[in-house]
Amino acid sequence: MSAKSAIGVNISTTCVRAAEISIHGGNLRLDRFGQVPLPVGSVIDGEVIDTHAVASALKQLWKAAHFRGRKVILGVSNQRVLVRQAELPVMDEAERRSSLRFQVADLVPMGVDEAVLDFIPMEEFDRGAMRMHRGLLVAAAQDTVLGAIAAASEAGLETIQVDLTPFAVLRSVAFDGRHGRHGTAEAVVDIGARVTNIVVHENGVPRFVRVLMMGGDTITETLVDKAGLTPSEASAVTMNPQTLTSVDATLVQRVLTQALGSLVDEVRSSVDYYRASSTGGALSRLVLTGGGSRLPQIAERLAATMNVTVVPGTPFAGIDTSKAALTDEQLRFVEPMAAVPVGLAMGGLR
Ligand SMILES: Nc1ncnc2c1ncn2[C@@H]1O[C@H](COP(=O)(O)OP(=O)(O)OP(=O)(O)O)[C@@H](O)[C@H]1O
Ligand SMILES: [Mg+2]
Repeated sequence: MSAKSAIGVNISTTCVRAAEISIHGGNLRLDRFGQVPLPVGSVIDGEVIDTHAVASALKQLWKAAHFRGRKVILGVSNQRVLVRQAELPVMDEAERRSSLRFQVADLVPMGVDEAVLDFIPMEEFDRGAMRMHRGLLVAAAQDTVLGAIAAASEAGLETIQVDLTPFAVLRSVAFDGRHGRHGTAEAVVDIGARVTNIVVHENGVPRFVRVLMMGGDTITETLVDKAGLTPSEASAVTMNPQTLTSVDATLVQRVLTQALGSLVDEVRSSVDYYRASSTGGALSRLVLTGGGSRLPQIAERLAATMNVTVVPGTPFAGIDTSKAALTDEQLRFVEPMAAVPVGLAMGGLR
């Protein structure tokens, strides 16, 4: 599909976010961007729980940021999304699409009739006389996809495409042309409130995907459970440990350090799994996006634990943002969170 402009919509734990990207003489332009907060509990672990609340936030977003188009691309990422390596006979895309569910029936742990399936070829090889593709098989439980589509539909939006959120993040940040190329791999990690999306790519081709059900809010919750803080104290301390005024500052600091350590360890062991199971290139660096990329010390701790260079993702870097009606300060503030909707929109332009 090719289009001159596309709107990506990210329904996340804390917000609905949308970005409209258009293409002009081969250059990308951000036309509109906005986000509207969601009531707590409307989206849990990446799945829409309260359709009306999400729909009403989307309506508000369309009004506030002056989106006019109604065709959108949605992202999905939750526990019931599975991405694994698979090998299929080489065939053209149309043929693969029509036969995929028969080909992969015994590779996915859910009925193929209840799943949305996709296959991303990575490389070709011969098995006997048969030419094969090695690639990533994506299977998402249909009801979780339908939940997001229903919320969009209630807001008057038509979903024309559904994409895996980690792929969107990858698309939005991975093309500065130096890393993840020429035999090296790059990890792209989006840390949200409750969902962390990890993708390792080589040359823009995803090699490994893992969705972790943890993020900034998980740390806040641990501070409530284990250090006895109120939710608002815990949230303040998560974002800025300097606000620490508790009598038991040592305990709070220890719990905070441990909770951050668990998140870092989970990211590390996911990437270690890729490193151990892949014949691919060495990891050249890690690109960090999402609100959780602002967690104090997260970049330093990932760098130290994983022994890689960690850099912030810059989804706006290759995009003209001058028409988006946002100040430089607003652009800087939203940039880490823009990776998903920007990448989703970019996926609609090809
Ligand atoms: N200024 C900040 N300083 C420190 N941490 C922050 C800051 N802003 C956001 N965070 C962290 O980022 C998290 C939210 O990230 P983000 O907005 O990307 O989540 P989300 O996309 O709504 O959720 P998810 O992707 O998990 O569904 C919060 O849990 C918070 O811990
Ligand atoms: Mg998110």
